[in-house]
Amino acid sequence: MDFYQLVEERQSCRAYDSSREIPQEKLNRIIEAARLAPSACNSQPWHFITITNPNNRLKVAEALTSMGMNKWASQATAFIVIVQESPNFTARLGGWIKNKHFPLIDCGIVASHITLAATAEGLGSCILGWFGEKQLRNILQIPRSKRILMVVSLGYPLDEHRQHIRKPLSDISSPEKY
Ligand SMILES: Cc1cc2nc3c(=O)[nH]c(=O)nc-3n(C[C@H](O)[C@H](O)[C@H](O)COP(=O)(O)O)c2cc1C
Repeated sequence: MDFYQLVEERQSCRAYDSSREIPQEKLNRIIEAARLAPSACNSQPWHFITITNPNNRLKVAEALTSMGMNKWASQATAFIVIVQESPNFTARLGGWIKNKHFPLIDCGIVASHITLAATAEGLGSCILGWFGEKQLRNILQIPRSKRILMVVSLGYPLDEHRQHIRKPLSDISSPEKY
């Protein structure tokens, strides 16, 4: 699929065919796309936990669901949990000098690689930022010192392609000056 088609096709998928498992090769290619993502000073401040085991999936889905949010999560047949790792010395120093927290930016880019790769694999995906972090940390035995930034749900999509609702270009971009 052409890149621009891929971008057009990707959407947050909130309905999955839970009877269809994702072949391991697809997940491997998605993780490889994540591995190749750029990061400040090539710091790669991330760790990916792939969840495919049905029991673990249900536990993760529970941690993603609260206050009416993400009720559909139990339909997903895989999750990729993105854990923020410490940046390397140069990214830390650069971030301190320039007052920027590069790992957050880096992990956002990774999430984008993951969702676009999922689309290329014919899968639906959704980035989730709403979850019980402590609960998820306990389930996945993630050290208390680490932040879980996002979870990406994956699976064969059941929802129709939607029109993207976006601000007009003139509101979000301008030539030559702000
Ligand atoms: C950082 C981040 C966190 C998000 N968290 C959630 C979430 O917890 N639940 C959810 O259903 N969608 C979540 N989304 C998906 C957004 O709602 C979605 O990307 C946005 O509405 C645009 O729609 P589209 O992805 O279909 O183009 C999140 C997206 C991002 C980038």
